[in-house]
Amino acid sequence: MIPLILDGKKVAESVYQKLLLEVSLLSFVPKITLLRVGEDPASQSYVRSKEKRCLELGLRGETLVLPELISEQELISKILVLNRDKEVNGILVQLPLPSHLNKEKVLRSIDPMKDVDGLHPENAGLLVQGNPRFIPCTPAGILEMLKFYQIAIEGKRIVIVGRSEIVGRPVAQLLLNHHATVTICHSKTKNLEEELKRAEVLIAAIGKPKFIKGDMLSPGVAVIDVGINRVDGQIIGDVDFESVSHKASAISPVPGGVGPMTIAMLMQNLCFAATLQSKKP
Ligand SMILES: NC(=O)c1ccc[n+]([C@@H]2O[C@H](COP(=O)([O-])OP(=O)(O)OC[C@H]3O[C@@H](n4cnc5c(N)ncnc54)[C@H](OP(=O)(O)O)[C@@H]3O)[C@@H](O)[C@H]2O)c1
Repeated sequence: MIPLILDGKKVAESVYQKLLLEVSLLSFVPKITLLRVGEDPASQSYVRSKEKRCLELGLRGETLVLPELISEQELISKILVLNRDKEVNGILVQLPLPSHLNKEKVLRSIDPMKDVDGLHPENAGLLVQGNPRFIPCTPAGILEMLKFYQIAIEGKRIVIVGRSEIVGRPVAQLLLNHHATVTICHSKTKNLEEELKRAEVLIAAIGKPKFIKGDMLSPGVAVIDVGINRVDGQIIGDVDFESVSHKASAISPVPGGVGPMTIAMLMQNLCFAATLQSKKP
């Protein structure tokens, strides 16, 4: 079986075409402020890509680079200033934060109407209630990709490996809202292979290179590989592309799969935030 390759760059491009039109209808240029704390190389690269994409779409993206040793109070004060700044439509704190900072406290300080990463408890709660405002970018990108390639969700057995706050949990909630039968697996799951064999769609968000092998899956499964693992200067997914390709009907590659979708959804959330704010009296 030759699987359909789920090309994230192509899907992202279609999102950008729609956004360009949306932006042209606004009477102002949406602006996002990205906060990066410290000099983590992966964070530097993610923030650079986000800023670059803003520029390409004619949006305003600015990065505040803050010292590694910034106190929680100082960081929260910066966020509170951005919350009040009418020029700023979206705020994103690049994760992970240095360990002395309480991530939950920091994320809670973002105005939920500017929370374009969708991680504020108010936005997470709205998603759980089936009434989402800002959906976290990677889950939103996965849904967009499934829709683009017309991979059925309703009534399908979707297995998610990983239960993180940024991927596993929100993608489970999102797909449940789209009427999938969702199973969430994690490091304490017993008989993981039994669960995997039942999957009609598999979403791997584990953070372990090539963890999922072809012999763990049933033929015809659609596979979304969220993993980004840096190994010997290369980026490797959580799925062993080679062996899984022989089983899957569709598979997203790494790189070039979910990664480009994540940034596209951030841009979409920013435009949505700007539109919502422009309607506020
Ligand atoms: N493409 C993108 O844009 C994008 C965005 C975000 C993340 N990522 C990548 O996606 C991967 C996951 O990220 P994350 O933030 O969700 O990671 P995370 O917070 O480390 O969560 C990993 C999850 O995998 C589970 N897990 C670990 N080992 C397992 C095992 N042996 N069997 C079953 N489950 C296991 C963990 O279970 P426990 O909860 O029991 O510990 C946890 O729920 C990483 O490679 C990350 O770089 C990519």
